[in-house]
Amino acid sequence: MYVCNCKGLNETRVRGAIRSGVRHVSKVFQACGETPQCAKCVHRIVVLIQEEHATQLCHPWPDAPNNEDDRLEA
Ligand code: FES
Repeated sequence: MYVCNCKGLNETRVRGAIRSGVRHVSKVFQACGETPQCAKCVHRIVVLIQEEHATQLCHPWPDAPNNEDDRLEA
């Protein structure tokens, strides 16, 4: 599902940037190698940042793999 239609950023790519430690919308774009255009996606990206960091804060074992990709890389 696309989060940013202008730059073609899907949810997986945005969540990946956030999981690398990004906490600001502008840094999400930077991590994806893009710059915002219309900014209609800002609210959705903010929600994803909140979701991802809430998940990390609530995770009982923060260093444990939390998805299929992490398990494959471990
Ligand atoms: S939808 Fe993201 S910059 Fe336009």
